[in-house]
Amino acid sequence: MPKTKVLITTRLPGYNPASFDDSFAITYNQGDDLNASALIEAAKDQDALICTLANKISDSFLSSCPNLKIVANVAVGIDNINLEAANQKEILVANTPGVLDDTTADLAFALLLALARRLKEAEKYLLEKRWKDFKLDHFFGVDVHGKTLGVIGCGRIGQAVARRAKGFSMHTLYHQRNRLAPELERELGLRYVSLGELLSNSDFISLNCPLTADTHHLIGEAEFALIKPGCQLINTARGPIVDEQALIKALSSGQLKGAALDVFEHEPNVPAALLAMDNVILVPHIGSATPETRSAMANLAIQAVVSAFKGNKPDNLVNPHCWRSFLARNERTK
Ligand code: GLV
Repeated sequence: MPKTKVLITTRLPGYNPASFDDSFAITYNQGDDLNASALIEAAKDQDALICTLANKISDSFLSSCPNLKIVANVAVGIDNINLEAANQKEILVANTPGVLDDTTADLAFALLLALARRLKEAEKYLLEKRWKDFKLDHFFGVDVHGKTLGVIGCGRIGQAVARRAKGFSMHTLYHQRNRLAPELERELGLRYVSLGELLSNSDFISLNCPLTADTHHLIGEAEFALIKPGCQLINTARGPIVDEQALIKALSSGQLKGAALDVFEHEPNVPAALLAMDNVILVPHIGSATPETRSAMANLAIQAVVSAFKGNKPDNLVNPHCWRSFLARNERTK
């Protein structure tokens, strides 16, 4: 029986080759990132792809890989994948929900605290050897306790952020399309508000929604015009949720007091204007970057591929409605 061909596009933390038995033939790229044409070349006769958000899985890419039956993204966000095209070609898509919520929320909160207490500016001052004496009014930040946090997108990660906010005695507002169950709102101390209300009442805003057609540039010039004076923004979700040019304008004018960004509109490019600002903290998309969490994510992606080809429907499919077609396609090619 022909082996099931699997391409792993990048080094996976905690990778154990024994995750795959002899029925699989693995191509494991541990070298440089594959550019678009190298990715097509490497993937064109594969049955399965284990990839990351650095790999653009477009309609034309999928058309170049006629045998492809499953794409397992080592990420919870799947905005790098054209899901409509995958559905249309009956290709399964899996992601990694549930294993990175606390780790990502930890980073969101680290960024919130660092912004509030001006850690970047204060450290720079010290490193530049400008610290000469203790002053009572040096580097005033803002208190976090008693302040209002607005969480946009209160799924698993947003809820983990809200849980932390509760521990820091903050008031938390949230906004998303659907309201959470009242018991969960009570448990997390959350109040559901409109986007406008959230913008005009929050001292800190944390973005935790997925990037979709609906959330692209959700925060732009009109939204920055509504924010409360002194508000600071934390984005650990996806860059294009914010209109980056509007963000730069809002930061330069002082409309927005500060921003801490783990994600950018055109990664890995970061606009020079942001690099030059003291009131921003910039980190290179490290929301889930701990060995435990990244290994758990990699393992979840591997398990989706292994169980699918063993005939067991993975729990982490984004398009489970394609399962039957997957089984039929897999049967035909055996
Ligand atoms: C990381 O950004 C993810 O979506 O898991």
